[in-house]
Amino acid sequence: MTNLRYQFKIMKITSFDQYKQVYKHSVEQPEEFWAGIAETFQWKKKWDKVLEWNFKEPNVKWFQGGKLNITESCLDRHLEKDGDRAAIIWEPNDPKDEHRVLTYKQLHEKVCQFANVLKNNGAKKGDRICIYMPMVPELAIAVLACARIGAIHSVVFGGFSAQSIADRIQDASCNIVITADGSFRGNKEVPLKSIIDDALVQCPTVERTIVLTRTRTPVAMIKGRDVWWEDEIKKVETQGNPSCPAEEMDAEDMLFILYTSGSTGKPKGVVHTCGGYMVYTGYTFKTAFQYEPGEVYFCTADIGWITGHSYIAYGPLTQGATSVMFEGIPTYPSPGRLWEIVEKFKVNILYTAPTAIRSLMSFGDDVVKNKDLSSLTKLGSVGEPINEEAWHWFDEKIGHGNCPIIDTWWQTETGGFMISPIANVTPLKPSFATLPLPGVQPILVDEYGKEIEGNGVNGNLCIKFPWPGMLRTTYGDHERCRTTYFSAYENLYFTGDGCMRDENGYYRITGRVDDVLNVSGHRIGTAEVENAINMHSSVVESAVVGYPHDIKGQGVYAFVVCPNKHEDDELTRKDIVMTVARIIGAIAKPDKIQFVSGLPKTRSGKIMRRILRKVAEGDTSNLGDTSTLLDPAVVDEIKTGAL
Ligand code: PRX
Repeated sequence: MTNLRYQFKIMKITSFDQYKQVYKHSVEQPEEFWAGIAETFQWKKKWDKVLEWNFKEPNVKWFQGGKLNITESCLDRHLEKDGDRAAIIWEPNDPKDEHRVLTYKQLHEKVCQFANVLKNNGAKKGDRICIYMPMVPELAIAVLACARIGAIHSVVFGGFSAQSIADRIQDASCNIVITADGSFRGNKEVPLKSIIDDALVQCPTVERTIVLTRTRTPVAMIKGRDVWWEDEIKKVETQGNPSCPAEEMDAEDMLFILYTSGSTGKPKGVVHTCGGYMVYTGYTFKTAFQYEPGEVYFCTADIGWITGHSYIAYGPLTQGATSVMFEGIPTYPSPGRLWEIVEKFKVNILYTAPTAIRSLMSFGDDVVKNKDLSSLTKLGSVGEPINEEAWHWFDEKIGHGNCPIIDTWWQTETGGFMISPIANVTPLKPSFATLPLPGVQPILVDEYGKEIEGNGVNGNLCIKFPWPGMLRTTYGDHERCRTTYFSAYENLYFTGDGCMRDENGYYRITGRVDDVLNVSGHRIGTAEVENAINMHSSVVESAVVGYPHDIKGQGVYAFVVCPNKHEDDELTRKDIVMTVARIIGAIAKPDKIQFVSGLPKTRSGKIMRRILRKVAEGDTSNLGDTSTLLDPAVVDEIKTGAL
């Protein structure tokens, strides 16, 4: 085991030279390195073996023999010294409503209480529990309460449709759903419970839904199945047992499932485990932001995505941080809302997405001018490549040139940051995620899997050594995990991202190289959108590609073959958009729909997406070789009709 001085050093990096030393050590002695980090968390029993792995099956096990409950590192261990420190500061959708502060003591109490509610409602260790809730503190409480009793949570983002929820509930055979009557987002109200009711028609495994009151919109409450959150809490209170012992979990037991889109088929359930995920999210949060106790940290993501799991809930809480949670959207009631929140809570670290930055930029600088942003010391970016214009605006107008921008590259599957600057240590370069964090070993390969060495090169980004936060499997289908991530290149984890490494060894992510779109920082599989479009009664077939979008990063462009459509094209377009919203959710709605009489296909029937991408990008000057197409004439028609 490493000594304490060393542990302190690896979490608190003060110079670029020190980063290089720690990085070198992490590659040469990975087990010693990670054991040193893991020592800084709370374990019920330490591990017997740090790491066992192969990327062939894949089989990756961290901290085997270790026993823990992640909520003890997130909550219990802070109680004695920092129980009265704010854990969550919650800002409601409507600024006229009261904000809420939950100290570590209060959060601990509420998590224990709701964990007892779950138990009263039949939840057991290993059960899968679906959570479909607004961004209120009870969402974090529900997540942590599941972890407290060893149930596996599967959070579904509030923007997904009943069908998407049903698919996810069925895939994991969930027996309990936690939801709310509705949610407030800007000036909209989303009827969450009603959407759940539609989903549950297809989900016989669900025995209980627990419904939080938020919007108090009328809801159907079904006898024997649906109960109110508040009533259940009262029962626990009268039972008079406020505490709930933390279930002992093996390091490799599942902590949660989170569904994400790939290039084929339905979204897959990425599985993260208790020990490795705890160590990785806590370590990366502390290291990249160089978080110091007392700093107020605000991540604008939703807990429905991995960013919210790792960097609103688990990571910051393991470090005793004060985390701001925001229910609404950055533009409601005005485009100054985020800056007002920064002002109101004197936020020190602001972690957001390029799409939000670009959207707020478009309202002009006046919105920012009269806001006091002087509390900010560090900024962060996540979800998609940040373009230089947005980087500089963020730097100058928000950070006033004094705040490092921590551009964190990572994925649902990686659990936490992989390539990222370390605040006030790594020299920055706009639009570059810069260098791997200690413990992360990236490699660029060509299409045959051969390593591309040296600097000033481009390739596909892979990782060649395991890290504790990596996915272990895809729920219920390990083979899918193997083929998606570990079969493209032998002995490497393939990220699906293209990447360039500049003359100084700095990494810049250039975007997905597979058929996955990144729309406003959200992953959307083109195949999934096509399947949804094809559900429309008059659609014969379709092809979906991305195109550059000023605010969203990428927009969804659909080429649709629809011979018997309504004579009003616009109406048919709206029907198709509605169909996609119904099947997947509003987040996957196509931005542009071009009706075509056929798709450009090769003689073997494969759609030539390369051509469609060029048309969608508005660059039809050089479409490359089209001679292998079954019907080259189709290309002219597509070019002429481009939107
Ligand atoms: O293409 C990369 C992009 O988002 C993908 C991961 O999406 P998801 O699993 O939804 O997780 C998003 C939050 C971590 C990646 O494959 N991406 C994420 N962060 C960055 C990024 N692209 C460039 N720069 C980033 N900082």
